[in-house]
Amino acid sequence: MFVASSRSVPDALLVPRHIAIIMDGNGRWAKQRFLPRVAGHKRGVDTVRKLVQASIERSVEYLTLFAFSSENWRRPPEEVSLLKGLFLNALEQEIEQLHKNKIRLKVIGDLSGFGARIGELVAAGETLTAGNTRLTLTIAASYGGRWDIMRATRAYFQAHPEALDEKAPVTPEAIEPYLSMAYAPEPDLYIRTGGEKRVSNFLLWQMAYTEFYFTDTLWPDFNAQALDAAIASYQLRERRFGRTSEQVQATRFNRNAEKNAEGAS
Ligand code: IPE
Ligand code: IPE
Ligand code: MG
Repeated sequence: MFVASSRSVPDALLVPRHIAIIMDGNGRWAKQRFLPRVAGHKRGVDTVRKLVQASIERSVEYLTLFAFSSENWRRPPEEVSLLKGLFLNALEQEIEQLHKNKIRLKVIGDLSGFGARIGELVAAGETLTAGNTRLTLTIAASYGGRWDIMRATRAYFQAHPEALDEKAPVTPEAIEPYLSMAYAPEPDLYIRTGGEKRVSNFLLWQMAYTEFYFTDTLWPDFNAQALDAAIASYQLRERRFGRTSEQVQATRFNRNAEKNAEGAS
């Protein structure tokens, strides 16, 4: 379990440790080309492969991708079924490669609607890659931020029935270990492709202090250069976590002075 990254002042001008992406715009990409929506989703899988590679090359530690929201079940059954099929294929074909590349795979979300085979592949893939440390790739599938918070809260109270007593205060720190992504620091950078400026029920709890980057680029067209543009935008931000700019500057100044002193000794 990590200490929430929003509780300390991280170094600025670094590559974000954790990037979370809302991969949107597959349908419009296909529509522009008079193709069925599934053609956009297939291209989207190619983009995922490229972005995983680009993230490794840039020393990103955690890449979290929103593949299917808890609300996407509302789509026409044919599209849901095609998306399930693509997810299944990707799991069948990519897990070996992920493991060879020393990537740890995690899947978050309520997988019960995807059928037994997907559940088994996810469990096997997570076990196989559990010891890998180069990049943690999290796929959010049938995931909703509200679902995650509710589930964590319920799990917390089940484990700590005494907390139902009003005299035992419940703190965010107490709930955090029960969230689906308790194994990762909070996202530093949130990217949404496809032009919409909304969160669509992605990681709600964890985004309290995440930096946002919105781009009109449709997900199938997103690439390493586009990722660099997002990272460059992130690097211009001052993350204050409620403090003043002067406090943040002073922390940074002291940290640099400590580093210089260490270097000199
Ligand atoms: C994102 O692309 C992928 C999923 C939500 C599964 P969309 O399918 O939402 O593409 P647009 O927004 O219709 O273009
Ligand atoms: C968000 O995209 C979910 C994923 C990218 C998986 P949507 O296309 O479902 O979002 P809305 O419905 O436009 O908000
Ligand atoms: Mg969309």
